[in-house]
Amino acid sequence: MTHTPILPVNLSEYEALAAERLPRMVYDYYAGGANDERLLRRAPAAWESLTIRYRVLRDASRTALGCTILGKAHDWPVLVAPTAFQRMAHPDGELATARAASGARTAMILSTLSTTPMEAVAAATAAPWWFQLYIDRDRGRSEALVRRAEAAGCGALVLTVDTPLLGRRERDVRNAFHVPPELPVPHLGEVTRDTLATGADGGSALAATFATHLDRGITWRDVAWLRGLTSLPVLVKGVVRGDDAVEALAHGADGVIVSNHGGRQLDAAIPTARALPEVADAMAGRGTLLVDGGIRRGSDVVAALALGAQGVLLGRPILWGLAADGEAGVARVLQLFREEVSLAFALAGVTGVHDATRDLLG
Ligand code: FNR
Ligand code: LAC
Repeated sequence: MTHTPILPVNLSEYEALAAERLPRMVYDYYAGGANDERLLRRAPAAWESLTIRYRVLRDASRTALGCTILGKAHDWPVLVAPTAFQRMAHPDGELATARAASGARTAMILSTLSTTPMEAVAAATAAPWWFQLYIDRDRGRSEALVRRAEAAGCGALVLTVDTPLLGRRERDVRNAFHVPPELPVPHLGEVTRDTLATGADGGSALAATFATHLDRGITWRDVAWLRGLTSLPVLVKGVVRGDDAVEALAHGADGVIVSNHGGRQLDAAIPTARALPEVADAMAGRGTLLVDGGIRRGSDVVAALALGAQGVLLGRPILWGLAADGEAGVARVLQLFREEVSLAFALAGVTGVHDATRDLLG
């Protein structure tokens, strides 16, 4: 009798599959959060607590997921979040993610800490791709990355601001997390790359890398600096307050990503599902507004849009798909999620992003 392998039927099931495949140090790095991992539990719980006053008889044959983000048409309101070191999950790493994102017509955000150069990712996708920036103490290095991104056809820059220092991820301390020296980390300088392989005095080599080489001193002035450097759209990632979102716009950003870094930074941080309405109200329709953190179900996307986001980012589920089956795994995660989003729209009586409005929640 032939045996048909049973594929996961939802995003969470991909985590179990990935856990079986990944070495402990890598799985713990991907899965983990800061300190007690309270926010890892609170983030999905905050989405779960939102319930939908669905509408009926709205013609589900008309359901369409298309949307506009930063003035560009997107096929659906979901993007791939920037996550570091994807070749630790699968040998094809970011290239597999880029190809799968391209096939699913999903925009991908590439991390400064990618294990694949941005030019190769650009060549592997027909969908938009954005570059996430961590600012180096050596500003010239960061400026050079911006120039490379412009030249390679990047659609936007994402400045991550919730990571002046790395949160204390106790799993990584215990495992002495490091990135094996044979893996390229092509957007970092040589000295920084060495720290990432060895660490300082035990503990997490990534924490040592942030403390030693990246700029913990960045302020709002640096948002203006980046704005002045490039004509690419700039999004500020890691905002959870309305006043900070307004500051971001005042310093020239084109929008914000409401995020607490997937619970990996301040463990006591507010879950993004709770922060989003305040940020949306403060922005009042000015600028682009995206959100991430613990989004695992299509109905979470409906809730995020209803609260004022124009789109959402998926972080870990992409890594689980990648670890499980490379490009095919990421493709399947995106396909499953797209079907969930489409079904949630239909069942909520939402025919398109324009009518995902706040009255849906209650
Ligand atoms: C991240 N995240 C992240 N963010 C960023 O701006 N630059 C980065 O390099 C990384 N790296 C990274 C690695 C890993 C393993 C994880 C899990 C996360 C944060 C990421 O972009 C996103 O904000 C969260 O992952 C979203 O939460 P979920 O979907 O993972 O719950
Ligand atoms: C992380 C960094 C790299 O969350 O953003 O691990």
